[in-house]
Amino acid sequence: MDGPAPSLLLPHRFGRYTLFDFIGRGGMAEIYLARVKTDAGASRLAVIKLILPEYADNKTFADQLVFEAKLAARLDQPNIVQVFDLGREAGRLYIAMDYIEGIDLSTLLTQCAKRGLALPGNFATTFVVEVLKGLDHAHRRTDDEGNALGIVHRDVSPSNVLVSLEGEVKLCDFGIAHANRAVDAQAMGEALVGKAGYMAPEHARGEAVDARADIFAAGVVLWELLSGKRMYRKGTASSLLEVAKDGHVPAFEATHLPDFERIRGIVRTALAPNRDDRYATAGLFQKDLEGWARANRLLGSPLRLGEWLTETFGTDYIEKRRDRERRVRELEEDSRMATLAQLAEEDRASRSTIPDVPSTPELEWRDAEDRPQSMIETVPLELPRPMFASIVEKKASKAPLLAAIAAAIVFAIAILVFFAK
Ligand SMILES: Nc1ncnc2c1ncn2[C@@H]1O[C@H](COP(=O)(O)OP(=O)(O)OP(=O)(O)O)[C@@H](O)[C@H]1O
Ligand SMILES: [Mg+2]
Repeated sequence: MDGPAPSLLLPHRFGRYTLFDFIGRGGMAEIYLARVKTDAGASRLAVIKLILPEYADNKTFADQLVFEAKLAARLDQPNIVQVFDLGREAGRLYIAMDYIEGIDLSTLLTQCAKRGLALPGNFATTFVVEVLKGLDHAHRRTDDEGNALGIVHRDVSPSNVLVSLEGEVKLCDFGIAHANRAVDAQAMGEALVGKAGYMAPEHARGEAVDARADIFAAGVVLWELLSGKRMYRKGTASSLLEVAKDGHVPAFEATHLPDFERIRGIVRTALAPNRDDRYATAGLFQKDLEGWARANRLLGSPLRLGEWLTETFGTDYIEKRRDRERRVRELEEDSRMATLAQLAEEDRASRSTIPDVPSTPELEWRDAEDRPQSMIETVPLELPRPMFASIVEKKASKAPLLAAIAAAIVFAIAILVFFAK
């Protein structure tokens, strides 16, 4: 997949980390896969989020990020990517976190759209239910004295939802969230404060936000996954940020869903423009969504989700990463780090990402900002066949036999009654 090139030649020694693979680049950082020696002498994998110099050199931003990353490091829950280190190395600000071997939801949707694949309906719901569990934990987190930390993610969006090959769903990037003591992030540019297409109206307007802004954002993700298309679209004369400020949520028209009125009510409550009308907590949103999903057999198992990812996207890119890691490890063990340059030369041309396929212009999930509206495309939702359908079918196929037996019984009774007289 063509993408931005890394600014470092890999492998690259970075403090106690050895960066050996480039994962990608977001609004404010480059993401590298690294190996690190633990205090106990063992080695583990880590993801290094290397903040771009133009941001890291802004003191207010850097202070805020360090403050936030320290908060994020206190979050310890299966649906949140664990942050375990942050600091400066060779003048570069970085955050270290657990590596999630898998795919982010934005790439998953883009690739589904490109390949014309339907997203299984039970996974769509599972993604949001799991994200809500992580959010609920973060929103309720207190300090050691029991005071609310006031953590708000501020950037809940598909690229920050990671899905592992084991079928786990994890929210990352609490590092750019701003707790109660937020600085005026609006002044620093949109890239830092979250993606406009997922912003609650009050967030887009630059007002102070609370946990309910994350509930709105999770609501947008749900709306999009169930509808198979982007929710907010840039108007002819207005940017996506302007559209988000308005908070005019397009009608939810996924009428193919079972128990449609119930799910529509859930989506409507999550996406209420006035935050007082929204779910008060992520936990309440999760309970309602999970209730609907369970009642309609729309919750996927992690095992099946992991299998589906592997079947759909293959594991070549993961194998490539593992292979690079092996080679770096061997060199480390030999203490021949000087020969890393040789590896760097070999690796320069290739990247371990999901193999891309040619895109048809009408099939494209991402880049809603840049494309004419007619070209913003869809990912169809594949719903499991309702359980009662097979029962009804079986009943239907046996109906003539049952009718014949019933007729025979009635006939026999009539004969008996006739002779009894
Ligand atoms: N802990 C991680 N494990 C595995 N992959 C990760 C991890 N963190 C990030 N990534 C990958 O790196 C990509 C880029 O991440 P990054 O956070 O820099 O950009 P983004 O999420 O697209 O934008 P933003 O700057 O708004 O967060 C992600 O979309 C994801 O695919
Ligand atoms: Mg991110």
